[in-house]
Amino acid sequence: MKAIIVRAIADLVKEKFGRDKWEEILEKSGYPKGYYFLTSQDIDDGKVMGIIGSTCEVLNAPLDKVIDLFGIYWVSIFAPKFYTDLFKKFTSARDMLTKMNSIHTMIVQNTVNARPPAIEYNWQDKNTLIMTYKSERGLIDLFVALIKGVGVYFKENIEVSKVDERNVKVVFPQPQQQPGF
Ligand code: HEM
Repeated sequence: MKAIIVRAIADLVKEKFGRDKWEEILEKSGYPKGYYFLTSQDIDDGKVMGIIGSTCEVLNAPLDKVIDLFGIYWVSIFAPKFYTDLFKKFTSARDMLTKMNSIHTMIVQNTVNARPPAIEYNWQDKNTLIMTYKSERGLIDLFVALIKGVGVYFKENIEVSKVDERNVKVVFPQPQQQPGF
């Protein structure tokens, strides 16, 4: 996985829990103190999971809580700083979420070794969207947290619930016309 993910975890921990906690996580995960990840660097998925595991231990927090915190932080605080021009194009949670499959496809074309998930969309009614997560990584809980983060970023009260290990239901509050209807 791209090290930008680990950079986001580092920023989150330093910002919310202090630099010392991040140093502890680095050491526990087998990296020297002060180790700096370049955003374009590739990190083995197992190592990323190791860093997430160490984060749970050091912060004394359960995995689902850390994944939730991270997903929301990534979309609402970290990614807008890194992908500023891209974020300017999104007008609402609905707009951003329905563009995420093509955005990830674009990232694959521009980044060596990136393997982001594929996303399928099915509207149940005009405000209820089923988003299907397709990836061999099995990170559905991260997918859920990232969707919640989109709501936080736009300050929209969207309802996000996991249907099963592949599908997430999103209910948008505002009655609006969606493209294609
Ligand atoms: C503009 C905001 C976003 C950007 C730039 C972005 C970009 C990326 C990048 C670079 C990766 C790592 C791919 C790799 O190293 O193989 C990734 C992974 C991922 N992204 Fe996004 N992403 C964004 C928002 C979202 C949102 C809103 C969702 C959910 C709807 C999402 C779902 C995921 C998931 C679940 C992964 C983990 C990889 C996997 O499960 O296979 N992303 N994304």
